[in-house]
Amino acid sequence: MKTVAFHTLGCKVNQVETEQIKDELIHNGYRVIDFSQPADLYIINTCTVTHVSDRKSRAVIRRALKANPEATVVVTGCMAELEPDKIAAMKGVNLVVGNRDKHRIAQIIDPRNGEMGPVIREPLSHQDLLAPALYQSHHERTRAFVKIQDGCQSFCTYCIVPHTRGPVRSKAPDDVIREVEQLVKLGYREIVLTGIHTGQYGRSTPDWSLDGLLEKILVSVPGSYRIRLSSIELGEISDRLLQLIKSENRLCRHMHIPLQSGSDAVLKRMGRRYSRDEYRHRVLEIADLIPGTGFAADVMVGFPGETNDDFTATVELLQRLPLLDLHVFKYSPRPGTPAASFPDQVDERLKNERSKILLSVARQKHREFLKDMMGQTLRVLVEECESGKCKGFSDNYINIEFSSPHDLCGQFIEVVLDGIHSNRAVARI
Ligand code: SF4
Ligand code: F3S
Repeated sequence: MKTVAFHTLGCKVNQVETEQIKDELIHNGYRVIDFSQPADLYIINTCTVTHVSDRKSRAVIRRALKANPEATVVVTGCMAELEPDKIAAMKGVNLVVGNRDKHRIAQIIDPRNGEMGPVIREPLSHQDLLAPALYQSHHERTRAFVKIQDGCQSFCTYCIVPHTRGPVRSKAPDDVIREVEQLVKLGYREIVLTGIHTGQYGRSTPDWSLDGLLEKILVSVPGSYRIRLSSIELGEISDRLLQLIKSENRLCRHMHIPLQSGSDAVLKRMGRRYSRDEYRHRVLEIADLIPGTGFAADVMVGFPGETNDDFTATVELLQRLPLLDLHVFKYSPRPGTPAASFPDQVDERLKNERSKILLSVARQKHREFLKDMMGQTLRVLVEECESGKCKGFSDNYINIEFSSPHDLCGQFIEVVLDGIHSNRAVARI
């Protein structure tokens, strides 16, 4: 039996795509082994979001080439999309596949198809529909991911992704429904709908929309499961989507809404399409409409020209929001994006200081959120049980621990929050 080893860099979407390739190769008779072992086939799914991701991607390719010089080495993902020829020129790399064709890798490497050219990279077009993925198995025990959308046309000034992922494309609603149906049948209790810019689902196809898709799934797929949305941009949260979340307990009260900055001047230079007030109003409105919603935000520190006042404005805004999670990033110039050549690049030391401050705000906000939830009953999907302790997440994405003499993995259990231990929620059944 031939062996294959995978290494995936970058975001969740890249990881989901690797799972799709893996599933097909297993189906074709490959055995998956650890990347550190000599394999017959290596698949490296690269990321190029920063120069560090580039460096890591190259290092992983070199590791594969060294581990077994006789192996077939296939490189795909966002770096392969952006610089296919440079990667193909690395001695020992057999095949470079762009993002459009990566789901076909199992087919491409089949010698009977005669497709094994050094580079397969077709332009990404908004007319492409996303290929359905019908898994025989999946990677995590309780949670499965369904990619419903790809691509982005927002061109934020710091981001290379629109160049690596191309225009917005979506998966046909019937294909999404079939995928969800199959994963629920396989026993997954949580389905995460994900994409590069998930809120733009259906943008290039009349009659398709994210809220419409959710309604269809809920009607067509019965069963005991819940749906979580990956991050969604502020302007793409429709009132219909909020009404659905409010009325349907299979939709998680969890909204990950990228903020990036609390300064209007910085947001403008970033090319973001909302103001700090719009962000604040909408989040507070959602918190009123759907009590207990777990909000998460991404914030970037050290964007070119970010002054002390800009940074203070960000801290001030964050303090006024009911946040469960705050993801802090330090700006790093990505060659090929406008912001990389903006004047007034911020000193690394200042970026570190600002990041430290925000990380402490993140801890404080997390704790406040948990305190507000004390005494409430939440439904936890149990992911892990060991030595009488079970752990899992509630629908609003609180990581909860409780005691039970039984192994409750994969079950929904109602618990009452009654404490906080090292910033983690503790509950009882
Ligand atoms: Fe990048 Fe902006 Fe698109 Fe997000 S919305 S992928 S940050 S260009
Ligand atoms: Fe990286 Fe591409 Fe994702 S650049 S972060 S793998 S979209």
